[in-house]
Parts: sequence; C-alpha cells; structure tokens
Amino acid sequence: MNKTYITTAIPYVNGVPHIGHAMDYCLADVYARYRRLLGDEVKFQAGVDEHGNKIFQKAHDLGIPVEEYVAENAKKFREFVEKLKASYTDFIRTTDIEHERRCQEIWRRLSDHIYKAKYEGWYCSGCERFITQKEYDENNGVCPDHQKPYEKLVEENYYLRISDFKDKIRAAIEADEMLILPEFRKKEVLKLLEESPDVSVSRSTEQLTWGVPVPGDESQVMYVWIDALSNYITVLGYPDNDISEWWPAAAQFVGKDILRFHAIIWPAMLIGLGLPLPRVLVSHGFVLADGQKMSKSIGNVVDPIEVLDKHGLDAFRYYFLRHIDTFNDSDFTWEKFEKAYNNELANDLGNLVQRLATMACKNNVKLDTEPEIKFDAEYVKLMDEFEFSRAFDYAWEKVQNINKRIDDEKPWMLAKNGETEKLQECLKSLTIDLLNANYMLSPFMPEVTEKIFEIFAGEIEPPATPLFPKQ
Ligand code: MSP
Repeated sequence: MNKTYITTAIPYVNGVPHIGHAMDYCLADVYARYRRLLGDEVKFQAGVDEHGNKIFQKAHDLGIPVEEYVAENAKKFREFVEKLKASYTDFIRTTDIEHERRCQEIWRRLSDHIYKAKYEGWYCSGCERFITQKEYDENNGVCPDHQKPYEKLVEENYYLRISDFKDKIRAAIEADEMLILPEFRKKEVLKLLEESPDVSVSRSTEQLTWGVPVPGDESQVMYVWIDALSNYITVLGYPDNDISEWWPAAAQFVGKDILRFHAIIWPAMLIGLGLPLPRVLVSHGFVLADGQKMSKSIGNVVDPIEVLDKHGLDAFRYYFLRHIDTFNDSDFTWEKFEKAYNNELANDLGNLVQRLATMACKNNVKLDTEPEIKFDAEYVKLMDEFEFSRAFDYAWEKVQNINKRIDDEKPWMLAKNGETEKLQECLKSLTIDLLNANYMLSPFMPEVTEKIFEIFAGEIEPPATPLFPKQ
C-alpha cells in the first residue's frame, strides 16, 4: 500500500482560530481524502506553534500563565480542526516534551552548520522573522503585514550556515525535486534563496525565555521557526524512529506568507540532517474580506465558527475550496457566500438530488449491485496537480450537466407517454452520472456526499428534508 504523508502549517496560538487557518486544514484534508480513495494509507499531521515572543507577550498582557494560555488555545485549534472534519491522524503541540527533546537532538545533529555570532539588525515579532536592511529600507521600517515598526536587536545568537546548502536547495527547486506550487512562486523563492543570509536560529534568554533551550547553552533558546519546522518530523518520531516509511512528505500545505521558511530554512535543515526534501510545497493564497486583508484593527475579521454554525460544514468547505482559488488570493463576503449557497448548493445540487431521487423512487429504479463509480481522467489530472478549486469546478460542471440532461431528456414526458424502458434507462443513467459526480465531490464535501450515496444505495429514497434548505 502506498504511504502518503501530508502536513499543514501549525498556527501560532496567540488568538483563536481564524478563517485563514481553515485553508491549510481544508486543502490538506481534500488531498488526504483523495489519496485514501486511491487506496493510499495516509498520515496527516496538524498541530499548533506555541513558542515565541508574540505568544509569550500576549499571555503576559492578559495576565495568564503562558502554559495555561497556550493549553487553552491549543484546545480551541484542535476543536476547530475537528469541526472542519479534517481527517488528521496526528496532532502536535510544540510544547510537547517529546517534541522539545527531539528538537534538541535535531540541533545537535545540525551543529556542524551552526556558529555563534553577534546579530545587529531588525526583527519583526509579528512575523517572528529577522529582517534584512534592504527590506527595512523598502518598507520604511514598518512591517507591511503587521503595521508595526521593526524592532532593533543586538544580541549574540547562533546562526545556521544557509550558504552550506544553497546549491543543493537551488538544484532541487530547479529540477522540481522539491516541487513548488504554484509555479509562479518558484521564481520568487529562487530569488529569496540567492539573497538569503545565514539565518539566526536562536534568541538570547534576556529577550525570550519561552522556547526550547539550546542544548549546552543556557543563555539561548531556539528561534521559534527552528522549533516549529521540526514538528513535521518530530511528530513522526524523528530522530528516535526511522521515519523513512513516511518521509519525505508527499505534500506540505502552507500559506504564501510562510513559503520562504519552508523553501529555504526547512530544506537547509533537512539537508543538514541527511533527510530527503518534501516532494511538494503547496502554497495557497489568502482569504480576503471584500478585497482587504482581514485584520482586527479594520474590524473585518470573519469568524469561521460563525460561518460553520450558520451554514454547516459542507457549505463552509464548498465556499472555501471552490470559490477561494487554491493558489491565489480570493474574497470572502457574506453576500457572495450566501449567493453561492442558494444558487449553487441549494439549487444545483440539493434540488437535483431531490428531483432525481423522487423520480427514481416513484419509478422503482434499481441500480446494478455495483455500479461503476470512478474518477474522470481530467479530474485526476487536476487533483494530482493540486489544482483543487479547478477540480471542484470540474465536478460541479458534471452536476450542472445532469440538471441540463434532465431538462433536455424530460423523463416525466417518457413516463407520461408510457415509454417505460426508455424511462428506466434514462433515470438509471442520470443516477450513475450523479453518483460519479458525487464521488468526485466527496473529498471536498464529506458529509453531504455520504448522505447522497446513502440516498441512492439499495432502495432509492428521496431525502425527507432538503439537503441545503434555502436561506
Ligand atoms: N506558526 C507559523 C507556522 C509554522 S509552520 C511550521 C504561522 N502561523 S500563523 O498562525 O500565522 O499562520 C498559520 C497558517 O495560516 C499559515 O499557513 C498562514 O499562511 C495561514 N493564514 C493566516 N491568515 C491567512 C489568510 N487570511 N488567508 C489564508 N491563509 C492565511 O505562520
């Protein structure tokens, strides 16, 4: 059996789950479900990033012990992943003792590539990132993502010698051995790689105590990204276990803002450890609120729990996986969401199932015991290229075509004219088409597609209540 390992970015727990966090989980889940349907055994990691200044500061501001604060929020994230029905197999917290111990071992194994030097430069605690002078100048000293001035840092730190790995990373990216998707991000990454200085990989405990201690140096804790990136392999048991049955990951899902860490620091660490690079880095776009970045200060943050509670899981996944483009920024507005719900989910799919199941039931349609249900080649191609929103479009077109076929073939006329055999054939063939479309929709909308399969299994029975009641 083919083994497939899929990972998601681990969010910082300095707040409650955000609509953007849903993207990693939903996209990774689509892939996990798709691979399982192809027969793979899937390991699917999710988790939370609990260290760093940002989190420590937040807990401090709230007057809550940091351990308590992260535990509370970690729980909310886990509940969120479950609410999204993301079929994860492993959930990691970076404060897990085992993770910390393994991170320290990873550090030891990288020590040939680590040296101590003085850092004098800029830092953004919003990004938890060291900023080059060039970037500082370009942004006039203010982080465009967090609208906060960069902080001046002067401290002794450990550095990871990125220059030891640049050639190998570049070659792997250029040869698509570590495939970066979408393609247009590849160039950006190669440019960043060329410009990348050695990376500071620790912070002085005078500045930060909330992190994994650097082995053998009590004055330093690890830079949060070293600890966070390691999660993808510590969760597999590295370095205690042989992880080769799962590693390299088949796909790692990350937002476009954090691709740079995954395409430069992460491969450097892996090469330093003698491990292979992930096969694919899938970098998704951002969910915008009416064209703008969602932010607390603008007051346009959409609460994912509200969307889920109001309209249910399938409607949530429908919008975020189809109308939010897999690779590009896309908009969320309640108006767009509700329009998609009523016109597409309720009309195209909900009504179709109701209509077809009613006719099939009334005319006693029986399918063969094992009707042939399969993915179309075009769908497989799109899914294999991680073009999920386009694969979803493809499956949806199938749904619309069935509606069109019903209108064209008018089964009710066949019934009226007593053309029983033709009627049976027509309804059977429409039902098989629907089951095939439903199968292609199933990685995207796990609940409703399961219901639809039940409706058409054995004695066909129309649903007692609409699948998507109009709102
Ligand atoms: N802790 C780091 C990730 C470490 S991975 C080893 C981090 N956390 S985060 O909470 O800031 O972001 C987590 C994920 O959510 C990232 O993939 C990020 O791109 C994604 N999103 C956060 N806001 C988003 C949108 N508005 N839209 C889509 N995804 C965005 O970075």
